[in-house]
This record gives sequence, C-alpha cells and structure tokens, in this order.
Amino acid sequence: MLRTHTCGELRIDHVGQQATISGWVQKVRDKGGMIWVDVRDRYGITQLIFEEGQTDQSVLDVAREVGREFVISATGEVVERVAKNDKILTGDVEVKVSDLKILNKSKTPPFIIDNDTDGGEDLRAKYRYLDLRRNSVRSNLEMRHNLLQQTRAYLSKNSFMEVETPYLIKSTPEGARDFVVPSRMNPNQFYALPQSPQTFKQLLMVSGFDRYFQIVKCFRDEDLRADRQPEFTQIDCEMSFVTREDILETFEGLIRYLFKEVKGVELGELPHIPYSEAMSKYGSDKPDLRFGMQFHELNDLAQGKGFVVFDSAELVVGVNAEGCADYTRKQLDELTDFVKKPQIGAKGLVYVKCNEDGTFKSSVDKFFDQDALKAWADKFDAKPGDLILILAGDANKTRKALNELRLEMGTRLGLRDKNKYAAAWVVDFPLLEWDEETERFHAMHHPFTSPNPEDLDKLGSDPGSVRANAYDMVVNGVELGGGSIRIHDREIQSQMFDALGFTKEEAQNQFGFLMSAFEYGAPPHGGIAFGFDRLCALFGGQDSIRDFIAFPKNTSGRDVMIDSPSLIDADQLKELHLGLVKPAKNS
Ligand code: AMO
Repeated sequence: MLRTHTCGELRIDHVGQQATISGWVQKVRDKGGMIWVDVRDRYGITQLIFEEGQTDQSVLDVAREVGREFVISATGEVVERVAKNDKILTGDVEVKVSDLKILNKSKTPPFIIDNDTDGGEDLRAKYRYLDLRRNSVRSNLEMRHNLLQQTRAYLSKNSFMEVETPYLIKSTPEGARDFVVPSRMNPNQFYALPQSPQTFKQLLMVSGFDRYFQIVKCFRDEDLRADRQPEFTQIDCEMSFVTREDILETFEGLIRYLFKEVKGVELGELPHIPYSEAMSKYGSDKPDLRFGMQFHELNDLAQGKGFVVFDSAELVVGVNAEGCADYTRKQLDELTDFVKKPQIGAKGLVYVKCNEDGTFKSSVDKFFDQDALKAWADKFDAKPGDLILILAGDANKTRKALNELRLEMGTRLGLRDKNKYAAAWVVDFPLLEWDEETERFHAMHHPFTSPNPEDLDKLGSDPGSVRANAYDMVVNGVELGGGSIRIHDREIQSQMFDALGFTKEEAQNQFGFLMSAFEYGAPPHGGIAFGFDRLCALFGGQDSIRDFIAFPKNTSGRDVMIDSPSLIDADQLKELHLGLVKPAKNS
C-alpha cells in the first residue's frame, strides 16, 4: 500500500499506530543528528522525523537525498510531538520513519509552492500544474466543486433535467464575436462554438422538457477583463409555463440556497430595481449596493449661474462622500486625475466641502455663494464634515464616470467589504439599444427576449421605448446572471427581427429552425444563465475569475502552459481548406 492515511489525517489518537503516508516534500530541515521532512498532499501536511542512532542508516541516507517536491512514501510509528504546531491539524503528531521510498524525483520548482509564493503571475501560469499544488488555489477549486454539486442537487430536486447541447453549432448572435471551427468535410464552411446554448434550450422547451439546466462551457471572442474569460461556464436554465415572477423566485431560491449551503450566509429577499432607477441612482445597470452614495441631479440648482461647464452640460450630477470634508488638496487632485483618466472620461471634478462650522468651500466659489451651496448640500442630505463630488456633461457619459467615482470612493472608504453581500434583481431593461456605428437597433439582451406585453404595440412605431421582459441578478456590483421571458410566437419573433433590421431572408437563414419550431406548439417559456466562474470568485471574495478555473487563459487569451493558440501545419491547413489564398498577380 502506498498510503494508509492522507497527510491531513493523523491526530493524537493515532499515536502508537503504524502509518504509511505519501505525498510531495514541502520542506526538509537537516540539523545533523535530526532530519525533519514536511510531506504534503491535497489534504494537509504531516511532519516526518528521522533521528541519528534511532533510524536505520539506509533510511537516513534516503532522507538526505530528498528535496523539495520529491514524491515520497514514508512508513513509521505515529508519535506525539515535543514542540506542537497549532497552525496545522496534524500539528500534535509526527511520524517516526522506519521506511522511506522516493517514488519520483523533482527538479527544483521554479517558484515556492506555498501560500506566500515568490512566483510572478506569468511564471505561475506557465507552470499551472505546480501553482495548483498551492493551498489557496486548490481550495478555490474545492469550493468550485462544492458549488457544482450543490447547484446540481438543488436543480435536480426541483425537477430540472440536465441535458447536454452541442458545442459545434452555428453562430447565435449574442453580442460578442464567435470562435469558429473549420469543417474538413464541408469545404469553406465553419461551425461556431456556442456563446451560450440559448436557441437549443428554447428548442428543448418546444420538445416538452419543461425544466432544463446545464452546467456548460460557453465561448466568446471578446476583450478580456478580470471577470471575463474566452471560455467560461454558465449555469444555464430554462422553464416552461412560467411568468417572470416564477423565474425570479426559483433562481433567487437557487442562489439563496448556494449562499446558505456553501458560504453559510443568509442572503435575504432581493429587491427589484428597474433599469431606469439603477441608471439614475447609480449610473450602472449593475450597482454595488453594499453602500449608498446615491446620485443626486443638480441641473435645477446649478445651471443658469454663469458657470459655463454646468450651463452647457446635459446633466449635472454628484454624490455625497460622507465624512470626507477633510480631504487635502492632494487627495482632491488624485480624485480629479482619476475621473480624467481616458477610460473614465470626465473633463474635471467639482467639489463642495461641508465644513464643520456650517460654511461651505467649493472649487466653484466664484459662481456660487454660500446660500447656493447650502441648497446643494440640502439636496444631497449632506452634513457638516461631508464632501460633495460633482461631474457634468453628456448624460450617459457623466453617469458612467460618476459610477466609477462612486465605486472608487466606496473602495477608499472601505465600504466594499468582500465578506458582505448585497444582491438585487435589475428588471425592465430596454429591449433595444441604438447603435450609432451601424445606425440600427441591437437587442440589448438577445433577439429572443420578449417585449414587456404593455409595450408590444410600440415595437413597430417607437422601438427604442419598448421595455424588455428581462432581468439580471446583480451581487456586489457584479452581473452574476441574466435572462428573460422569451418570445414563443412566430409572428412576434418575426416582428422582432424586423425591428433589428434583419431582412426576411437573413432571419430565415439564421433562425429559420427556431421560427419553424414555433409553428409546432411552442409553450410560453423563459430562463436565465448565471456566470458560474463569477459565482465562484464572488464566494471566494476575489475580483478575478482566473484563480477559480483550473487552466485559465491570460489577458491576451493565451494558455501559456500549453502555448495555445499556435500555428498549425501547412498540411493541416490544406486539409481544412484554409490558407489557400492566391498570391496577388504581380507579386
Ligand atoms: P449573458 O450573455 O448575460 O446571457 O450571460 C450570462 C452570464 O454569463 C456570465 N458571463 C461571463 N462570465 C465569464 N466570462 C465571460 N466572457 C462572460 N460572459 C458572460 C455573466 C452573465 O451574467 N443566453 C443568455 C442567458 C439567458 O437569456 O437565459 C446569456 O448567455 O455572469
């Protein structure tokens, strides 16, 4: 037997027993007469002890050969330690080794395999299989496993059936670019990898499956960020014969269950916030509700007083940073630089300090007297000691910039505690958004989302004002999931494609299969998909989803361990009918 116990198992009760444990060498301390070796596996660390005079010379010789990350198997008696280590669960005991085998040698690892590592991100990515030996990364994956099991348990218990849908499909427009796969057997034709199983899950509803789920890989060729990977996992779900409220209740139930089972956190009821309110109060459709600092608009009080920046602005809007009136010149300059960064895009920042003595000091004192500033402070509900921060300009851009400033202030003020959770449903999204570049409407969610029944008659006449029967679940400022009640009527689906500027042929070519299915008894249905990697990162209290994925891609979409993507052979290209571009005539 290569082991009788794991490296995390031995306790004081085992003293006197013989044990064989196997694992990787974490550390060797050779003090001449005594050698200690810490051996590690995924369950923990156990100390081995070898003693000159007591341990066989042949065993001592082997012990002197081992180095970091060697794979060893040690047999011996479990003894009580003289100096106990209360930091590890096996810290009361050690194994007095009588037999030691080296199962495999290891080169010196390129970085220290411990919670505190000296390895930079690139090096750890290259040797991901070594990085995965570290406790912190492994425990993230253990939590992911737990979340997977609990998700399946909840959904199965609620009559959801897990059905796998294909990975080689035809492109479904979902907002991002597709990854495509050339077909050898069908020259010059391509499959697309699914951005989500959206149309398949709807077809399963037509087939009568009623409650579907799938924990499924999705692929999107989009710019990467901390919470975006080119391949990621969704908890994808669909239900028939339901209203929006049924769906919100069912999946609020799922998320509440996961928080309780996996994190031990009671999430409570989720508020429903209309999209328009989220935008006006927080400048974001995924507001971080762990803290207040809501927006207040100042157009009525601040315009027409001769300050051209405000007078020429579509929107003057600000937030109250409570208790920040003592910010120094340097701190205010930092905030101004922050909002002027190209990715934030504001032109400048106006502040009002609400002094402790009831007076006000602002960066626009020239245009606004104390009474005017007092009126602003009243609007913001600002007290002495508070700091009002104001941006002005184009309404959408200004709200977006103020959202970033609000989040920055929330972080600076320690209001975004990773162990606190604030979740909400954002509802009533616009169905369509106007795209300046292509000069046409795009579906804000996807083309299968149904319009709010109250707005249906405006789909032809005023498409921009139609609200969608769609919802997002937002937790701590992260869009965790999104879905909608779908169109299940062929005629309405066809009107939707018209509104999106599809010709009849385009609609037929791309979605003929779905429209045909709607002619054979499609039930009313709707669903949702959660970003599973985001859920893991949220539970792990981190912003980046990368450390919750066993083998993630870097920010350039590369797997630096296997060195992918990579060039392929000319033969392979030829077989796939690729790369057969004719050279230009006169080259
Ligand atoms: P949506 O596009 O909103 O909806 O995606 C659902 C959820 O998936 C997560 N997500 C991502 N996670 C990591 N990396 C990415 N690149 C990435 N893109 C999205 C987000 C998001 O909320 N078919 C619809 C769902 C439906 O209507 O039922 C869909 O895919 O957490």
